[in-house]
Amino acid sequence: MLSGKRIILGVTGGIAAYKAVFLLREFQKAGAEVRVTMTPSATHFVGSETFASLSGHDVAIDIFPEEEEATEWTRHINWGEWADLFVIAPCTGNTLAKIANGISDNMLTATVLAARSPILICPTMDGEMYESPSVTQNLKKVADFGYHILEPESGFLASGLEGKGRLPEIGSILDKASEIIGSIKGPLEGKKVLVTAGPTREFIDPVRFISNPSSGKMGFAMAAAAQRLGAEVTLIHGPVSLETPEGVVATSIISAQDLYESVQQKADADIVIMAAAVSDFTPAQTFEHKVKKDHGVDDMQLKATTDILSWLGKNKKAGQTIIGFAMETENLIENARTKLIRKNADWIIGNSLTKKDAGFESDTNHVHLLGEETEQEFEGTKAEIAERLLKYIFG
Ligand code: CTP
Repeated sequence: MLSGKRIILGVTGGIAAYKAVFLLREFQKAGAEVRVTMTPSATHFVGSETFASLSGHDVAIDIFPEEEEATEWTRHINWGEWADLFVIAPCTGNTLAKIANGISDNMLTATVLAARSPILICPTMDGEMYESPSVTQNLKKVADFGYHILEPESGFLASGLEGKGRLPEIGSILDKASEIIGSIKGPLEGKKVLVTAGPTREFIDPVRFISNPSSGKMGFAMAAAAQRLGAEVTLIHGPVSLETPEGVVATSIISAQDLYESVQQKADADIVIMAAAVSDFTPAQTFEHKVKKDHGVDDMQLKATTDILSWLGKNKKAGQTIIGFAMETENLIENARTKLIRKNADWIIGNSLTKKDAGFESDTNHVHLLGEETEQEFEGTKAEIAERLLKYIFG
């Protein structure tokens, strides 16, 4: 259940902070990606370096850290958007009181306000604290906000007292986290999504072909994002060197004609995303054997391939959403809008090849989403953009 999920682990300043190290490990063993935010007090119990090296990410502590870049102060917003679940374990009475009152004076509490995911609070306290009227009231308040609470266990406490306040066993926290994640319904739940990605190859002879520099990264990111948002995803891709995203069923093809035939078989999908960089032309004649240099070829006839997106547009099913891409080097918006209309797509995602850090092989992108009455810009890593695009369209 936790495999492939993104968890923010919030650690506050209680003695059980050391147990959060094991919790992080168990989340990772279950296949989750974890980022850690700590309150400044938590760093008295466990060094942030421990969490940083285990999670592979910087640990967010202060909103305005002196040594970091000024842009980093928006990290709580990015993390809040990134996460599938925010687990605060251990959560002290102080942080609980802040959360109950919307106070956001450190990265952890600010991320609570920015979080779009469910929040699981594991309160831990010593002595009579857990039973105090203010903690009781604050717990009720956060439960009313819709946050999940995993009650502490009774037993031997750090003060030497016996009472209710111990962090539950790691297994219980994992079970609760799985239960919460399992109950989340993504906006694409129950939808069949077909994504095409990567280049096609149009062979001239057995060793030469016409193609383009598409890496497939944007299409793979779209497939991964659709899967994360609950869809059943089929990915048809040309020759790329990328790993199939977890949970996605992938088929590989070579030529534009292969892609066309493969898309026709899956064209009953609820959503089709044509991210493939399909070759517009293919050689009119292919040679069975390698064309030897000395024989030469004076000219080469090309014929047009089928425009698959246009075919989909013409054969659109009731209720189906068709999303195309437009790769342009000039007049991006104008050309992309023409493709939207001409190909009868519902949305076109326009890429400009002339923008820095965008386009074919880059990990980042800058795109314009065009709908009948919409024009919206998205910038970031291809993974971030893919998720934002799908949430914008279907969220
Ligand atoms: N496309 C397609 N079949 C083709 C060519 C393109 O389905 N034979 C799809 C692409 O997957 C993309 C969209 O059409 O979703 C636009 O592709 P693009 O290469 O930008 O435009 P073209 O239609 O090829 O037009 P042009 O080359 O004139 O820009």
